[in-house]
Amino acid sequence: MIAPIAGFSKFSKEEKIEWLANTYFHDRETVISMLKRYWNSDEKLQKLHDEFIENTITNFYLPLGIAPNFLINDQMYAIPMAIEESSVVAAASKAAKFWLDRGGFKATVLSTEKVGQVHFMYFGAKEKLQHYFHHIKPELFATTNHITQNMEKRGGGITNIELRDKTDELNGYYQLHCTFETVDSMGANFINSCLEQFAKTFATAAEAFDAFSAEEKDIQIVMSILSNYVPNCIVKAEVSCPVAALTESESVDANEFAAKFIRAIDIAKTEPYRAVTHNKGIMNGIDAVVLATGNDFRAVEAGIHAYAAKDGRYSSLTHAEVADGIFRFWIEIPLSLGTVGGLTSLHPLVKLALEMLGKPNAKELMQIVAVAGLAQNFAAVRSLVTTGIQKGHMKMHLINILNQLEATEAEKAYFVTYFKDKTVTHSAVVNAFTTYKSENAS
Ligand code: MEV
Repeated sequence: MIAPIAGFSKFSKEEKIEWLANTYFHDRETVISMLKRYWNSDEKLQKLHDEFIENTITNFYLPLGIAPNFLINDQMYAIPMAIEESSVVAAASKAAKFWLDRGGFKATVLSTEKVGQVHFMYFGAKEKLQHYFHHIKPELFATTNHITQNMEKRGGGITNIELRDKTDELNGYYQLHCTFETVDSMGANFINSCLEQFAKTFATAAEAFDAFSAEEKDIQIVMSILSNYVPNCIVKAEVSCPVAALTESESVDANEFAAKFIRAIDIAKTEPYRAVTHNKGIMNGIDAVVLATGNDFRAVEAGIHAYAAKDGRYSSLTHAEVADGIFRFWIEIPLSLGTVGGLTSLHPLVKLALEMLGKPNAKELMQIVAVAGLAQNFAAVRSLVTTGIQKGHMKMHLINILNQLEATEAEKAYFVTYFKDKTVTHSAVVNAFTTYKSENAS
């Protein structure tokens, strides 16, 4: 068994790599040179990235692509997307172009409320706790003044603090359920700092609250943390066009296409197995933009999936209908994003991504991200109900297979043309490549 390592975080980067290579690999030299190959030659830039996290040994590249031609609320955008899946950017670009010719995307932010909670245990009389809460509430606001001042100047702050009785679900469990407006920041640090101050004030002042018995004075704070579930921080994005304008080729009947598309959405609404994959396709677009703009995609993922299950069953995040001859397709999702703070001013590529989007505020970024999700879903469902997904998917994957086979640039160009009118499968590419190689061996 490998011996545990003490004080690892204090090692230099070289020492960490040495330890890793010696401990887990046979070919240490190859591992070390591979890790160093991904270091940036600009030492200042490398140091910046090293310091984002602990124990950095190298950089992990993801492609940054752009999907141009997105018309959103009458403005043209090229959307930055950081993602490894081969067909995602192509699909987004295709959907953008399709809707560009049909009036583009409309997006609206419906609400911007963020949430945080202080979870605590109290086993005394309920009315006394209520009484205490009303007594202490002004002080909860007052003692966070030093944290909220700047946020208030920007138009945000604490919007409410509520006492919630959760004792029906867990004996002795209560919450301070708190809501916030964090304007252009995602607000995690702001919210958590406020919550920790609430907890401190709430527990300390209880000790001096005369109406409490000795036992009641002992409010036990369990934890104070923001919630990534933000069902009142909602953005809506939509597209619409006359049904007749839905198809590009005469071989596909527009009414049939619309009906089949809506049926596919209905299936994702009723069948969780399908809904998960349907929503995964939406997240292909959302995560890629969230990541490229330096936001927390894990928080966004968790919040959106919880929202997809808000009615008691996991369901589609998108909706479609035909009314009066107009096809309408829309998405409504919770999104907690920031365009200031965090990585937004630190990571040079994040800065560039935000600049490319015209330095959006958080609401504008919410709209762009929701549109990326809707576009991705439109592209996926359109393929699924017409050609099938593999055609486009495998065309994009062809280059990955050729790279695995170590094809040269000339060979890649040859096979892209060769497969233009053929079905791409992994084995078809391997077979064609092997035949080509043996026929062209000198
Ligand atoms: C693949 O990454 C995403 C899709 O499976 C989404 C869908 O099925 O709707 C194509």
